[in-house]
Amino acid sequence: MRFTSAVFFSGLLAAVSAHFQLQYPPPRGDFVEDDEPTFCDGYANAVSNRTVFPTTGGKISINSEHPQWTLGGIIATVQNPDSFDNFKANNAFQYVVPFFKTSGEGGFCFPLDLAAQNISGVQDGANVTIQLIFDGGDGQLYQCADLTLSDSATVPDSVSCTNATDAAVTPVSTGVATATATSPASSTASASATQTSNAASAKNVMGLFGAAGVLAAIAAML
Ligand SMILES: *[C@@H]1O[C@H](CO)[C@@H](O)[C@H](O)[C@H]1NC(C)=O
Ligand SMILES: *[C@@H]1O[C@H](CO)[C@@H](O)[C@H](O)[C@H]1NC(C)=O
Ligand SMILES: *[C@@H]1O[C@H](CO)[C@@H](O)[C@H](O)[C@H]1NC(C)=O
Ligand SMILES: *[C@@H]1O[C@H](CO)[C@@H](O)[C@H](O)[C@H]1NC(C)=O
Repeated sequence: MRFTSAVFFSGLLAAVSAHFQLQYPPPRGDFVEDDEPTFCDGYANAVSNRTVFPTTGGKISINSEHPQWTLGGIIATVQNPDSFDNFKANNAFQYVVPFFKTSGEGGFCFPLDLAAQNISGVQDGANVTIQLIFDGGDGQLYQCADLTLSDSATVPDSVSCTNATDAAVTPVSTGVATATATSPASSTASASATQTSNAASAKNVMGLFGAAGVLAAIAAML
């Protein structure tokens, strides 16, 4: 229900902003359009009712409200990640979804094999948080899901997993802006402030793992 009304609302505002909704695994709380340009859609703390998520054979499902967009995902392995720094190890973001570019409004769902990525602390029984970063052309938007990983879990059949189009997916070297990404404490920061950071962030991510690394990781994922 809430996604329907969110889509309706942002349809009215489409000229000024595009948004996305994380549909599976469920986000920290109800979608808050105005807070989406900030850390975890404005939700500063992890929830206690975590989603039990498969260590192997997971899926991510989103709804895009923009025809052209970029998506990436990072992971934190601490109990209550409340800052972008919690999604880093050795000063680099821990990517579970290397940034890719595609097109199409509506559903987009893809496999996520966390175990294959060999990230320290990502294992059966661990509490982790995944943060999705979406850019529909007017700045980065963030949604988080708090998970407990399980080797025996599977994605429930009730989860809608469809792609609205079969548009091609292309790896890109854009990413999180470390210096300018807004913290939970300043959740009123505007989308335009985030947008100005994109040129700088492209450089950041190239520095983190380079274009070749992105390509290899995407190839392994898709
Ligand atoms: C956690 O509980 C809240 C309040 O009942 C609910 O809105 C939210 O959808 C739940 N989250 C998950 C991941 O189950
Ligand atoms: C995971 O989080 C839940 C809910 O916050 C908590 O009860 C549990 O002890 C945590 N498990 C671990 C391994 O930290
Ligand atoms: C993960 O570790 C396994 C076993 O050491 C190795 O075979 C595999 O190539 C590694 N995968 C990545 C993505 O580093
Ligand atoms: C959606 O497209 C992506 C990228 O091509 C692909 O990995 C994924 O399997 C597709 N999802 C479905 C449900 O077909």
